[in-house]
Amino acid sequence: MTTVIDGKQVAASVIDAVKTASQALKDQAGVKTGLAVVIVGNDPASHAYVSSKSKMAKECGFTSVQHTLPEETTQEELAALVQSLNKDESLHGILVQLPLPKHFNSEAIIQSILPEKDVDGLHVVNAGKLATGDLDGGLVSCTPAGAMVFVKRTHGEDLSGLNAVVIGRSNLFGKPMAQLLLAANATVTIAHSRTKDLAAVCRNADILVAAVGRPEMVKADWVKPGATVIDVGINRIAAPEKGEGKSRLVGDVAFNECAEVAAVITPVPGGVGPMTIAMLMANTVIAAYRRAGKTAPKF
Ligand code: GUN
Repeated sequence: MTTVIDGKQVAASVIDAVKTASQALKDQAGVKTGLAVVIVGNDPASHAYVSSKSKMAKECGFTSVQHTLPEETTQEELAALVQSLNKDESLHGILVQLPLPKHFNSEAIIQSILPEKDVDGLHVVNAGKLATGDLDGGLVSCTPAGAMVFVKRTHGEDLSGLNAVVIGRSNLFGKPMAQLLLAANATVTIAHSRTKDLAAVCRNADILVAAVGRPEMVKADWVKPGATVIDVGINRIAAPEKGEGKSRLVGDVAFNECAEVAAVITPVPGGVGPMTIAMLMANTVIAAYRRAGKTAPKF
């Protein structure tokens, strides 16, 4: 029987642990965890994401601050806001929603966030800590951290002897995911669009993680029987069967056929997606514990 991971349920268990941790920090150190979320411009999908992040922060018992800035905001104005959030002792996490409107130098903004408040894990200091195996010192990017929760709940903390293949080499996901798997002792291959015989590389994977942004690219004959398949893709495709002009979400994995070969698989939607917000909350409470000089909880 194939196990289909229920991302919503796992995310809810992480959120419960975050609530407990934030309450304990309040009780023991009088510190209320704080998260600032910044959004610039009018992209409806980004506004929806940001609202759910702000709402979840409140549910976790955090101070939740949202800055909604107009499209015409300048680089200097946004940089000044980040500086003021960096200085604000009531805030432990800062998230600037991406993508920023085209006239921004996004990288300069992201790198201006204090690394200890970079709950997105995008600062080079946090990327560097992960790359050097310092998992307890930095903050790990939320989506790979969430995918790793699934891997560890399936295989345990030690992946010695297991082959892991990550398809995709982005700084946002593929590279940090590969580093997390490596830190857990997996033998890791990063595959990408230039990889020769990608199907054969994937068939070697005990843990296959797909993050390429190509709808249903991973087919059943790419999957090693009994493998764990984690699908990070979110692709909207036409669904004429639902009616004219309708669409549906699919991952990078052809779910139905791969589910017949894999032992464990994540669905889209309802797999990795819900974990991203949960890990953002986890990173924020971790940042608050560290700022208070306390040992941070693990999630
Ligand atoms: N836009 C889409 N996903 C993310 C994310 O994880 N972090 C930020 N900052 N922006 C995003």
